[in-house]
Amino acid sequence: METTIDELLIPLHVKYIQSLDTRKDDLEYWLTEHLRVNGIYWGLTALDLMNNIDALPRDEVIAYVKSLQQEDGGFGGDKHHDSHMTHTLSAVQILITLDAIDAINVEKVVKYVKCLQNEDGSFKGDNWGEVDSRFSYIALSCLSLLKRLDAINVDKTVEWILECKNYDGGFGSRPGSESHSGQIFCCVAALSIANALHHVDSDLLGWWLCERQLKNGGLNGRPEKLEDVCYSWWVLSALSVLGKVHWINKEKLSKFILSAQDPENGGISDRPGDMVDVFHTLFGVAGLSLLDYPGLKPVNPVYCMPQHVINKLNL
Ligand code: FPP
Ligand code: ZN
Repeated sequence: METTIDELLIPLHVKYIQSLDTRKDDLEYWLTEHLRVNGIYWGLTALDLMNNIDALPRDEVIAYVKSLQQEDGGFGGDKHHDSHMTHTLSAVQILITLDAIDAINVEKVVKYVKCLQNEDGSFKGDNWGEVDSRFSYIALSCLSLLKRLDAINVDKTVEWILECKNYDGGFGSRPGSESHSGQIFCCVAALSIANALHHVDSDLLGWWLCERQLKNGGLNGRPEKLEDVCYSWWVLSALSVLGKVHWINKEKLSKFILSAQDPENGGISDRPGDMVDVFHTLFGVAGLSLLDYPGLKPVNPVYCMPQHVINKLNL
């Protein structure tokens, strides 16, 4: 059942994000345990964009994230979990947002990321070796936030990302893979960090991206797929980096995101009527921020972090 909700229910979303930390008895909590550090990044970023960063206990968050740094320098999703690039980026993003990066051993993080670069410039996600353009973005974002891009071969990184570019202007997860909006966010943002955006055909890619908007205002990730609130981030952030947010119908997209809110318990879902989760809550709120929704802080489209945090780093 679809109900029309015409404004962002900030106090309810703040409560929903706070409640995630106290629901340790839920089966769902344990099933997603390995995602805990990612979940804190999604929740904390959404809270800051909604002007409520103090809704999570700062010192406890810092101590918890600090406890996740492993011997190899990377971060696990939760205590006793092996390091992975995605958790490592979330840890860095949380600590930078909280202005507490000195709580961890930064030099070891740099070494961890550096060790995951392959000869051809691509990056592995962890020691098991899966390669994906996501990990190229993560490496560049992480090291740029730490001001240590000098530690890796940025030219080779860019060369490999360009091998993931397709004839439709988009990017895939590896050379030859089909274009996908999640990967397009990663590759466009990575090229932006590496000062290599001139390699993007921004008109061709801009068209592909704005064709993701469906009749109901929502965006999908690839042709023939269903609309999903998280693509309000993956598609719109790339359009924002290319300076083409006005190529989609902003009002219809805002309405679609607002209609995916849970008006009783807070949170945003992938599409109206589904169960909410903190991942879609962040990407709904961050999408609305890119659409200049009133009352939200601006979000940086490359780092998916509050713009005021990025400004402080002079990036
Ligand atoms: C779609 O995922 C999204 C992607 C492939 C991009 C993921 C990007 C990262 C992990 C980098 C870190 C991100 C941020 C914002 C800092 P999916 O597997 O849900 O795709 P599907 O919709 O096709 O299932
Ligand atoms: Zn989604």
